[in-house]
Amino acid sequence: MNETAARLIGAARDAAANAHAPYSRFGVGAALLLDDGSIVTGTNFENASYGLSLCAETVALAKANSEGKLRRVIEIGVIGGMLGADGAIAGVDPVRPCGRCRQILNEAAQLSGRDITIHCASADGATVETHSLSDLLPHAFGPADLGIG
Ligand code: THU
Repeated sequence: MNETAARLIGAARDAAANAHAPYSRFGVGAALLLDDGSIVTGTNFENASYGLSLCAETVALAKANSEGKLRRVIEIGVIGGMLGADGAIAGVDPVRPCGRCRQILNEAAQLSGRDITIHCASADGATVETHSLSDLLPHAFGPADLGIG
């Protein structure tokens, strides 16, 4: 794992401590790297009306957008696992962004014209997979399909 991936996964793990996931008991943290080296984090944000729940990646991207920084996103780290009684995440499988989050990441990639690097970590820290968004979401629907850009 390179230094940037380690930094993002560390920030994502810290963020996961704030996950609001009382229904699934699956906590997720995400950390976006912006082109100035700064980090924007997010956690999953569940709701008693289950379908309204938001993923950690989406929350982080919405935060970046609300600060006018969506086009500056270049990498993301994601980590998650089942929440224990101590509030810590546990598990051996890396968390990969869901389909909806991949599509939302694509909005940032289209704005910047850059592919986004995605680091997917397991809660135990033993596994980190690195992918590009274009690998995880080939043939994406985007602004060009609407005749924009
Ligand atoms: N979740 C995320 O936050 N990100 C992902 O990439 C996968 C799933 C959340 C949604 C829900 O709160 C919980 O994990 C279980 O699906």
